[in-house]
Amino acid sequence: MIEFRAHGKLFVAGEYAVVEPGQPSVLIALDRAITARVAEGHGSGTVHSEEYGHLPLTWTRADDGLALDREHHPYDYVMATIDLVEKLRAERGIAPRFHDLRIESQLDDASGRKFGLGSSAAVTVATVGALDRFYGIGLSQRDRFRVALLATIRVNPRASGGDLAASTFGGWLRYSAPDRERLAGMLGGRTVSEVLADADAWTGFDVERLPAPKDLELLVGWTGSPASTTKLVDVVRRHRNGGYPAFLDESRTCVDDLTTGLRSGDAAQTLDALRRARTLLQGLGASVGSQIETERLATLCDVVEAAGGAAKPSGAGGGDCGIALVPADTDLAGIHRAWEAHDIRHLSVAVQAPEGSV
Ligand code: MEV
Repeated sequence: MIEFRAHGKLFVAGEYAVVEPGQPSVLIALDRAITARVAEGHGSGTVHSEEYGHLPLTWTRADDGLALDREHHPYDYVMATIDLVEKLRAERGIAPRFHDLRIESQLDDASGRKFGLGSSAAVTVATVGALDRFYGIGLSQRDRFRVALLATIRVNPRASGGDLAASTFGGWLRYSAPDRERLAGMLGGRTVSEVLADADAWTGFDVERLPAPKDLELLVGWTGSPASTTKLVDVVRRHRNGGYPAFLDESRTCVDDLTTGLRSGDAAQTLDALRRARTLLQGLGASVGSQIETERLATLCDVVEAAGGAAKPSGAGGGDCGIALVPADTDLAGIHRAWEAHDIRHLSVAVQAPEGSV
């Protein structure tokens, strides 16, 4: 049995802007994960998860042996990933094998509701990692990220891949994305190995480790309302107006200041950048007529600001989680109580230690 764990994530700053190639963001990986386990299949393959139940994989005979039969499967992150890794396996001359894939998630609550901690990304990274080990392909950490991004853009071409980077590399990260439309176009005519090896194709992609903030505690609150990132990103795309270039500039400055605050261990600068990141999202929401900061998210943030910290919606907003940093001597239990009074649940999470070098 081969096992691979991939972590959940939260955006700290740079949301929405990060969908533009080269625009920076800051993310953290969390100690909650999705685990993919692969075992040898016998004459057939399966995927087993909460989402699918028990799903038999049907395969068609292809020149190189076996290929996933796309018509018989929901073409989502797991299927797109299996499909891509099978292509890569064939390109590397590795013989095909049937496999049973089991997926287990710590990124949902007991009743299966998603917290909004990047489960699509984590399931993609976990599947790439588990199949890479199963076939002994030997992908580097960066190539695992790249394969996960190529699989993701087949399902959601606008996704920035920031969540995949956090899930792959762990810790605190600064991330900017390559041009996914260009990558998607390339995959049409070239092998997966060629696209992975083409440095030019990945222009704009950058990932750097950042130190954890000094003298500040991280808090995460869950609003209990699920949000659709794809829909919200689409609304911003359709309604963005003349102020959009200024939003991108301000987002870059805010992420740069946050990066400097973290690197120099300057708690005041870090908190100030996080507050500006909240204001930027409020302005973006107002300009496109979309509630990125819902009432409950606003309460979540206001409670933290009143206690001397900084907070903002994490990710696309519209529900899901808010992220907060507070001075280390803050009354954390007081914040938790105030959140609970407004039906906001404190999620007990920690930042996952960095894995490998980026
Ligand atoms: C969603 O978690 C964050 C967005 O920036 C979209 C993305 O990065 O793909 C809104």
